[in-house]
Amino acid sequence: MSVVVRPAGVCEAPWLAALAERTFRETYSAYNTPDDMERYVSDHFGAARQEAELRDPRRVTLVAEVGGRAAGYAQLGQGDAPACVTGPAPMEVVRFYVDRLWHGRGVAQTMMAAAVEAARTAGARTLWLGVWERNPRAIAFYRKCGFGDVGTQIFVLGADHQRDRVLARPLD
Ligand SMILES: CC(C)(COP(=O)(O)OP(=O)(O)OC[C@H]1O[C@@H](n2cnc3c(N)ncnc32)[C@H](O)[C@@H]1OP(=O)(O)O)[C@@H](O)C(=O)NCCC(=O)NCCS
Repeated sequence: MSVVVRPAGVCEAPWLAALAERTFRETYSAYNTPDDMERYVSDHFGAARQEAELRDPRRVTLVAEVGGRAAGYAQLGQGDAPACVTGPAPMEVVRFYVDRLWHGRGVAQTMMAAAVEAARTAGARTLWLGVWERNPRAIAFYRKCGFGDVGTQIFVLGADHQRDRVLARPLD
């Protein structure tokens, strides 16, 4: 199985937005109310917003493909980090989603290796992310990738205030 990870182009916003919404729903619908999910999805996904994110010079969006078909995507962003992230030159893994079909098959590792390289290229020296405390598979995966706990933060999903664990790893 050969996994290719490449930067996404601006013209790919419509299908990337659909992939982002679908994988978000697949991951969280079972654990959240329909109202909270709809509020979050309508505020955060969609082709126009995706296009703006692809044009944002502080963001990097990567697509993982297997056999030429999308198997996941990752988005990195430069900007403010929470105070618990104390490492130099931080960059956030804003989104990291692999299509369910490809879980446990190495796509996520290849995509993380590409994300680490992209972050280094962007000048980052610390990679950090927030992950829901009730997402044990993702937490186990990030630990395998060298991330460790540095704190917590609140993530607002609709009307629900959830606790995210904040994980970070050095890039040096
Ligand atoms: C998070 C994600 C990218 C990880 O990719 P993956 O291919 O599933 O990762 P892996 O299978 O290599 O690693 C997951 C680890 O968690 C373990 N695991 C699986 N279910 C688990 C559970 N319920 N509790 C604890 N660990 C669990 C696996 O056994 C594996 O560890 P191992 O390799 O030591 O056996 C992928 O699952 C995904 O896209 N999930 C949905 C989206 C998501 O949650 N994104 C993160 C948002 S912050």
